[in-house]
Formats: sequence, structure tokens, C-alpha cells
Amino acid sequence: MTDTPCAPDRGRGAAAVLTGLGAWLPPRRVPNSELCNRIDSSDQWIRERIGIAERRFAEPHVATGDMAVEAGARAMASAGIGAVDALVLASNTPDRPCPATAPWVAHRLGLPAVAAFDVMAGCSGFVYACTVAAGLIASGTARRVLVIGAETMTALVNPLDRATAPIFGDGAGAAVLEAGAPHAEGALGPVVWGSDGSLSDAISVPAGGARGRHRRNRTAPEEHFVHMSGNEVFRHAVRRMTAAARHAAAEAGWVLGDVDRLIAHQANQRITATVADLLEIPAARVPSNIEQVGNTAAASVPLLLAHAADQGELKPGHRVLLVAFGSGLAWAATTLVWPAGLSARLS
Ligand code: UT7
Repeated sequence: MTDTPCAPDRGRGAAAVLTGLGAWLPPRRVPNSELCNRIDSSDQWIRERIGIAERRFAEPHVATGDMAVEAGARAMASAGIGAVDALVLASNTPDRPCPATAPWVAHRLGLPAVAAFDVMAGCSGFVYACTVAAGLIASGTARRVLVIGAETMTALVNPLDRATAPIFGDGAGAAVLEAGAPHAEGALGPVVWGSDGSLSDAISVPAGGARGRHRRNRTAPEEHFVHMSGNEVFRHAVRRMTAAARHAAAEAGWVLGDVDRLIAHQANQRITATVADLLEIPAARVPSNIEQVGNTAAASVPLLLAHAADQGELKPGHRVLLVAFGSGLAWAATTLVWPAGLSARLS
């Protein structure tokens, strides 16, 4: 591998084809009962209102980059490759405010001098990062891209805040996208994405950024944690995910009855169920892993893809509709036909 800034433009106009999937979860399982020792809540409320039984917490010395390395290595093994032209890491919890985490992840994966950068787009980050990767591939700038979604949400969540503590968990998922024919199985379809910054306060971490620097010494500890207006976010999540999913299916030339599997960001099981109902996609076509892993933000979509593939819920030829929504506010949806011969690596 050389230090040239980009690959030659062989493959211009190519589609981004999914060829590898990997996932990594921290081993520590945290049941609702453990959280309820700290917050005024109950196992029953969390199961019924969010759909979560347990989530994973990374140990204090484990950060986003470490989990990204594990998931990225598994995705590359799944694709049977040892090198890529670019690495895009979607995360809301970078290891440090500066620099980006992706170059360190590339270094740890043995990918010297590869282009590597972070994308922050809330829980839509992985679909955004796949869209960026597809653009790199279509322009001929890269032929193989490793896209990772990784989160240490325990770094942002106030363990005493019952509005957020039951929801989030840690983990990482990753995909390899490679240049291929536009109508090949596994090729990403058209993306529908967007944002609404007028609602940027609906999910935010008030302190720690450039905007608060003039009062750096006067911030309360709570301001360094994520704050969420749950009801407001819930309403927008349903509206935006439904519209984006509908639009992405239409852009792919599908009717919603064609959709074999809806892969939705695991925000809240009630959100997923409402979106599926509005789209008239039967529950049997809507895989979910929120009960076991919680809401893992930018890691949610690739983790669900990997888990659903591993459990045989995604079969070759299935028409798969992906949709995500989160802070920003930002949303994204796209499609693909599930490819044959793809085996997700979870270990
Ligand atoms: O991934 C990024 C995007 N994030 C999301 O999409 C999350 C969207 N929002 C949500 O998932 C939900 O709004 C929450 C899970 C955050 C909250 O659920 P909710 O059903 O919207 O609760 P609520 O705020 O409307 O409160 C309903 C009731 C209230 O009690 P009363 O007034 O009806 O007696 C709350 O006090 O539930 C109570 N409540 C709780 N009870 C036990 C609120 N939080 C809790 C809690 N445990 N943790």
C-alpha cells in the first residue's frame, strides 16, 4: 500500500455492494433491575415502554475506538479482505474531542495511510456513513470502504437520569462496501436523507463543545451528559422514519408490499412497531434486537444487520429497507437486496 491520497478512478459510477458484516458487544450485560437500583423506574416499565430487557456496558477502560477495531476486523474477515481504500467511522462518542477516532482505528487494524475520518449524524450515522462511502465508490475515489458504527453511550448517559439511562447501550457494528454493478445483489439503493437543525436541542449534550467555551469553568456536571425530550423525539422519529422509508422504497422502484425486511434503528420498540404499522409491513418482517442490546445509537443499524443475518432472518434475495433517525435531528433510509454468501462475523 502506498501513501497516494486516493485510488485511481477505475470503477467510476460503480455501486456500493455489501460484502462483509461484523459486530462486537462488550461482555457486561446490564439488566433493567440493575438500573432500577439508581433510578425511579421498573423492569416492567422499561420492557413495556421501550422494549429493553438488558443492554451492554463497556468496561471503563474500553472506548469507542476499541469496539470499532473489533467490529471492523470482523467485517473485513467476513468479506475475506485485508485492506480497504477508506475507513468511515460513525459515532457520537469519539474517544476524544480531537482528533477523529477513525485514523487510530485504521492504525490498529493494520491499514497504514488509509483515508480515515469520523461522521457524526446521531443514530443515523451509520446510514450516513454508508452514503458517503457509496459516493466515494461511485466517484472512483475508493473501491473498498470499511464503514463502522461504534458507540460508548455510557460516556454520555447520566446514570441517574431516568429519561435516558434505561435506553442506551454500548457496542459496535461494521460493514465492508465494495465497488460492483448497480443492480448486483447487495448494492445499496438510492438514499433518502435529511436533517432539521431547528430541533438540535431535542437530543443534545449542552457542554464540552465550542459553543460553551466561554463558561467552561462554570458548567454543571449534568451539562456534560445527553439530554433528550423523549416525547418530542418520539413523535418526530415516527414521522421522519415513516416518510424516509416510504420515499426510499419508491426511489428503489419498490412498493411497500415488496419489502421482506425492515431494518429500523432500534430507538424504542414502540417507535419501530408504529413505523412498521404505518408502512403496513407485518411485524414478522421487522427484526429487532433492542430487547438484548438497547439503543446503541450509530451502532444500532449495523448491529441489527449482523444479528439478523446471523440468525438467518435475512435471506438471499430479500428486499431490505433500512431506516434510521436521531440527534441533529437527522434521518436516512436506503434499500438493498440481500446478497447470497454473506456471513456476518460476531466473534
Ligand atoms: O435514538 C435516538 C432517538 N431517540 C428516541 O427515539 C427516543 C424517543 N423517546 C422515547 O423512546 C420515549 O419518549 C421515552 C422512552 C424516552 C419515554 O417514554 P414515554 O412513554 O414517552 O414517557 P413519557 O415521558 O411520556 O412519560 C410517561 C409516564 C410519566 O408518568 P405519568 O405522568 O403518566 O404518571 C413519566 O413520569 O412515564 C413516566 N416515566 C417513567 N416511569 C418509569 C418516564 N420515564 C420513566 C422511567 N421509568 N424511566
